[in-house]
Amino acid sequence: MHGKVGSMHSGPLRLFHLSDIHFGLEDRRALDWVKACIEREKPHAVAITGDLTMRARHPEFRAACEWITALDVPVTVEVGNHDIPYFNLYERFFAPYKRFKAIERLIETQLDLPNLAIVPLRTTTRAQWQRFPWSNGWVTERALNHTLEAIDALPEGTRVLIAAHHPLTERRADGKLLTINGTRTMEVLAGRKVMGIMTGHIHDPFDLTEQTLAGPLRMIGAGTLSLRIRSTPPSFNEIVIDGDQVKVTARNLEQVSTPDMQIDKVPENAMPPRTPEEPVSPVGTVPPVDPPVH
Ligand SMILES: [Fe+2]
Ligand SMILES: [Fe+2]
Repeated sequence: MHGKVGSMHSGPLRLFHLSDIHFGLEDRRALDWVKACIEREKPHAVAITGDLTMRARHPEFRAACEWITALDVPVTVEVGNHDIPYFNLYERFFAPYKRFKAIERLIETQLDLPNLAIVPLRTTTRAQWQRFPWSNGWVTERALNHTLEAIDALPEGTRVLIAAHHPLTERRADGKLLTINGTRTMEVLAGRKVMGIMTGHIHDPFDLTEQTLAGPLRMIGAGTLSLRIRSTPPSFNEIVIDGDQVKVTARNLEQVSTPDMQIDKVPENAMPPRTPEEPVSPVGTVPPVDPPVH
């Protein structure tokens, strides 16, 4: 699906990159603030990189759909691992996106802005034969091809940002598998000269450049807007694209500066850091007890 947005615009483009709202355990105060920012500042687009809900329950989807449909700007929504129904296995396998009905046209929608396309990449799967649980990412060949075809169909010279739920880091330092097929995907996207990949899942923001065999790839992570914080207060990314420059600001209600918000390494998941080798943001807002999962 494509959403075309005004073509006469020139000059910097401003996006709001939101993630991991986790309706059911959303941070109401943060969410009201983001909504007011969107209404007042009218960014050119909003990209929501998954985990809209906690447990993919109907009331959570209803709240998510209501909040998103009220936004009066172009929106693309990616699907997170928390958005695939857990309780109804039939639905999990055969109709995973049914509960998104009200925002169906926004799901994995490509946004065509002036000389910039936001192209979705699916990293969630219904089942993973390699492992259980299925909370980590997997870029299937099919998903990757779908994204590459979309990139290759763009007019020559169009700038590209990718939107996905899981960061593409394939392995932890000790070799543990994170996103299956992530290394190759990063390499192929770097080869296509994408400006960056916007992701969620981690609940802390970051702005890192990964060196691949095909060149560098910018990895931009947004924090969470839920009560499940990892080591930073709730936040979203403001991304300004000016020519070939991308500037990322991790905006938050506590007025913490972006360098103090961002972690310097992609952790395994959104759980608060509990061992010394896990990355902690400089602001170090680590909850003393693990936030609730349900
Ligand atoms: Fe999440
Ligand atoms: Fe996630």
